Amino acid sequence: MLRRLHKEQPASFAFTPMNLEWAKGQISKYPEGRQASAIIPLLWRAQEQEGWLSRPAIEHVADMLGMAYIRALEVATFYFMFQLAPVGSIAHVQICGTTSCMICGAEELIAVCKELIAPTSHTVSADGKFSWEEVECLGACTNAPMAQIGKDYYEDLTPDRLRALIARFSDGEVPVAGPQNGRYSSEPLGGLTSLKEFDSGRTQYNASAQRAVDIGDTVKRIDGTEVPILTPWLKDKVKA
Ligand code: FES
Repeated sequence: MLRRLHKEQPASFAFTPMNLEWAKGQISKYPEGRQASAIIPLLWRAQEQEGWLSRPAIEHVADMLGMAYIRALEVATFYFMFQLAPVGSIAHVQICGTTSCMICGAEELIAVCKELIAPTSHTVSADGKFSWEEVECLGACTNAPMAQIGKDYYEDLTPDRLRALIARFSDGEVPVAGPQNGRYSSEPLGGLTSLKEFDSGRTQYNASAQRAVDIGDTVKRIDGTEVPILTPWLKDKVKA
């Protein structure tokens, strides 16, 4: 698929102060002259901040890394994880359409997205809140069909469950991620049949969903204030 920059671009881009500090920390991981190695984390942070990668954002990152714009554009346009068009203000819904999910109903989920969000992918909904796309396998095949909404996985979906999730996100809620059919993680639907000794002392949700709940994960844009900025490798450098 040809990936082009969006036809409407903002006038400028700047990292938030904390994201800028984080970006400088990432650049410091690499030896002098090799700063271009930080291109993917910096582009990713720019996308986490804005929701998508605009041309000013790509060029800003290129300037920070001393790269020719075309080199940064090559990276941004190559990887499908980088969104080159504006996304919904609340969330970009990524429906897995690969084999397991397709067999288990991904096409019905895509139909829900077309109905509730926009008839075509990479199009922001009329209310500005959502956009959607079909993506390749996200590695949760046992819990097919599934979708990534924001940073988290919502699994064991049906059209009605996806409708309910979109409605809750639209109302400002952040539904608990993970399986949406009541199962704990990726065990058989009828419960564990072996290794049952590991089925004790568990948290309310599976480890991934519990982590999201514990840290209060949301779908909001990242501005760098979420977690402390750590650069332990700089301490190691001083010791050496
Ligand atoms: S096929 Fe959908 S997560 Fe793997």
